[in-house]
Amino acid sequence: MSKVSIIGAGNVGATVADCLAKKDIVNDVVLLDIKENLSEGKALDMWEAAPIEYYGTCVKGVTNDYEATADSDVVVITSGVPRKPGMSRDDLIGINAKIVKGVAENAIKYSPNAKFIIVSNPLDTMCYCAYKAIKEAGVGSNRVFGMAGVLDTARYKAFLATELQVNPKDIQALLMGGHGDTMVPLPRFTTVSGIPVTELIDKEKLDAIIERTKVGGGEIVKLIGTSAWYAPGAAAAQMAEAVVTDARRVFPVCAYLEGQYGQNGLYLGVPVILGKNGVEKVIEVNLNEEEKSFLETSAEAVKKGIGSLATLLPELA
Ligand code: NAI
Ligand code: 2OP
Repeated sequence: MSKVSIIGAGNVGATVADCLAKKDIVNDVVLLDIKENLSEGKALDMWEAAPIEYYGTCVKGVTNDYEATADSDVVVITSGVPRKPGMSRDDLIGINAKIVKGVAENAIKYSPNAKFIIVSNPLDTMCYCAYKAIKEAGVGSNRVFGMAGVLDTARYKAFLATELQVNPKDIQALLMGGHGDTMVPLPRFTTVSGIPVTELIDKEKLDAIIERTKVGGGEIVKLIGTSAWYAPGAAAAQMAEAVVTDARRVFPVCAYLEGQYGQNGLYLGVPVILGKNGVEKVIEVNLNEEEKSFLETSAEAVKKGIGSLATLLPELA
């Protein structure tokens, strides 16, 4: 029996539920939101798709009823506000920190063994917020981690696939750092079926794709007036799948660092092995001096977010 609860049944949360149901790998998906009937309606709609899509995953929606989430293997937190045009992810901290803290505290009471996948923005700071909120309940940092790298890497791969006119499935890539404009796509760790990407594309075009990837979230916000959900939902569902099926996938994940990459006591995107215990291992790759300095810049940006959190919610500092 496996169960995934998704807190926040908005655009991203509902998409996570939909993607997970279609994978047909968990017995139960529970969607929870504070807006009355929102989760119930979306979950019922998904359940009515089961006979068409051929899945057996039971999708249930509830209004703020944490008892229904009891004994979840994975809790995905997507509650909070998304950004509007002109806003940065950091502009959301004042509202989302309180929401994420409250939601994590409620969820852990009913699912003491769950792994938590954080999606709410600003992502790196919200991971820190959730971890600090439930640490005292005995939750190790391996059980609280965030979705950003899978999405940002997917955007990078999608742009490369368009440029190279190849199947996106054949692109392997690594991207590290915070989920913001300082993220660090790594061309040295990017291949097309093993062929270094630099053999296939000139530097100018590759640099343009890297710059587009860094502001990939903002590109969607400009187009539709709110943030993306299809790719983010698919990314969080893929991470939940890795945990529930103990797949030991190697993904870029926002993980708590305790000395790795020279960083201590903060969440940052790094490659990890994802399995039944959550972050099974942070993989440390050898970065060159330029890559290290980009990662350091990104870490400094994340530290600013954590600094603002300390002012907003000093009890978490
Ligand atoms: P949305 O507005 O469509 O959905 C958010 C939902 O959270 C709403 O239905 C709202 O009622 C609910 N909510 C608010 N407070 C709640 C609480 N205390 N308990 C339960 N539910 C609550 O927003 P969307 O587009 O789904 O985005 C959600 C979050 O995910 C945003 O913070 C957004 O910035 C972030 N995001 C992060 C990405 C990433 O790569 N990490 C990618 C895309 C979005
Ligand atoms: C995204 O990257 C806004 O974080 C959200 O789409």
